[in-house]
Amino acid sequence: MREYKNEIPQHLAIIMDGNGRWAKNKGKNRLFGHTKGVKAVQEVVEECAVLKIKYLTLYAFSTENWNRPEEEIGVLMKLLLSSLKSEFEKLLKNRIKLNVIGNTDQLPMSVQKELDYVIKQTENNSEMTLTLALSYGGREEIESAIKQLAVKVKNNIISPEKIDQSIINEHLYTRDLPDVDLLIRTSGEKRISNFLLWQIAYAELYFSKVLWPDFRKKHLHKAITNYQKRERRFGKTSEQLLQ
Ligand code: FPP
Repeated sequence: MREYKNEIPQHLAIIMDGNGRWAKNKGKNRLFGHTKGVKAVQEVVEECAVLKIKYLTLYAFSTENWNRPEEEIGVLMKLLLSSLKSEFEKLLKNRIKLNVIGNTDQLPMSVQKELDYVIKQTENNSEMTLTLALSYGGREEIESAIKQLAVKVKNNIISPEKIDQSIINEHLYTRDLPDVDLLIRTSGEKRISNFLLWQIAYAELYFSKVLWPDFRKKHLHKAITNYQKRERRFGKTSEQLLQ
């Protein structure tokens, strides 16, 4: 195991991108890329547990991904279902708590049931929280928080003056998670793609050229080492940080 002298991120979020291009480069179809992407998910989750990263959030399926061909959506859902089943024991063994964010009502019933089961069975685990963003969109999440707050204002449960950032936070899917410290996106694209818009306000961004199915421990280590070299000032000056 590699030791890190400096702080490791408390909350790491990953946009796993490039499955389709990885497959195309190999003359295969996109679905093959997703299947190989599962291996990278397994390795990254295991390594984050070893590194004692407390929160890992993976962008597994966006609201926009519903526009993909039906066959591809079907394969992604099947991979999700089979991974939930095959990784269950490992989650228990490593004391990892499963969490999900997004509009999960839209997922197939079989996936919803399996998610409910694994979430329930792992709810007391405290080594790491693994959050899967499924049918997730950052703007939808903020829209949903605003709607909930509007209803509370209308019903005199809360007054508009009381609404502040911490109350908004409590109405997001991520209410139990801290802000993101490090966001990694693979495949060379430099976009946020509607992921955790509110939560990445002060995150460090790291873009890797590696396509997701090729992303391994060493690439994760490289991202973390890079993060550790950065000075996070949160709006302050370097001098103030030394005080
Ligand atoms: C992006 O690649 C990847 C996805 C949309 C899905 C990610 C899903 C997995 C890695 C497998 C299942 C997940 C879990 C949590 C077990 P892309 O298809 O957008 O690639 P492209 O940009 O090269 O076309």
